[in-house]
Amino acid sequence: MNDLADKTVIITGGARGLGAEAARQAVAAGARVVITDVLDEEGAATAAGLGTQARFLHHDVTSEDDWARVVAFAVAEFGGVDGLVNNAGISTGSYLETESVENFRRVLDINLTGVFIGMKSVIPAMKERGSGSIVNISSAAGLMGLARTGGYGASKWGVRGLTKIGAVELGTERIRINSVHPGMTYTPMTASIGIQKGEGNYPNTPMGRVGEPPEIAGAVVFLLSDAASYVTGAELAVDGGWTTGPTVKYVMGQ
Ligand SMILES: NC(=O)c1ccc[n+]([C@@H]2O[C@H](COP(=O)([O-])OP(=O)(O)OC[C@H]3O[C@@H](n4cnc5c(N)ncnc54)[C@H](O)[C@@H]3O)[C@@H](O)[C@H]2O)c1
Repeated sequence: MNDLADKTVIITGGARGLGAEAARQAVAAGARVVITDVLDEEGAATAAGLGTQARFLHHDVTSEDDWARVVAFAVAEFGGVDGLVNNAGISTGSYLETESVENFRRVLDINLTGVFIGMKSVIPAMKERGSGSIVNISSAAGLMGLARTGGYGASKWGVRGLTKIGAVELGTERIRINSVHPGMTYTPMTASIGIQKGEGNYPNTPMGRVGEPPEIAGAVVFLLSDAASYVTGAELAVDGGWTTGPTVKYVMGQ
């Protein structure tokens, strides 16, 4: 049922990391994929590695004009839009007291306004198609209060809310909108802050390790597919149990 045959999916921030892996799994499931990113060389290489089912377009998610170009390309090249993965994002880590207003605005612009423009831009094409699935990549930081994530955490809580608003507005149009909340996952974004993979490397989570991109991408493909035909407005944590609540592994006296 996790079948994407004959579906066209736009994946933002797909040059590398989670987006690139989602593109790989979507193509493997039969989809035609439009990968977009501001990283032109990496994006073109990722698309080329996936063969004729994938294309790359330069795309800054904060630009309404770029979005119009991406949707028009998907329609002209592949005949329509069935899926959108709003994955592009940046992460920064400052305490509220030291976070600059300029940086806070920049993170919200990419991580939240970019998602809003994306949803707004594909809705007409999905209505034309008679159905659609939008998967918004939020974060575990959109499910809990995580220190040093001022702009990032606020943007990811916003994505979670926008997802539910869209699900309510578009349910009867057969357009499903869900959010995925990855926990700490090994990608270029987290490698750059010293995160490592392997068992026992992340004792914060019940599973005791960070996630890997294929583990997140599987959830994305499920939500894009007809296997999730009655799932909308949901928030799917894919986080090794990080957000289950206080992660107390040892209780005194036991
Ligand atoms: N890696 C994790 O631990 C983790 C955890 C929770 C959520 N996430 C979210 O998953 C998504 C993917 O993250 P990743 O870990 O693969 O990071 P990454 O940095 O490897 O990939 C993000 C991609 O987004 C692109 N991008 C940035 N700004 C853009 C813009 N304005 N327009 C278009 N593309 C832009 C980047 O060029 C990059 O290719 C992000 O939204 C991130 O917040 C990641």
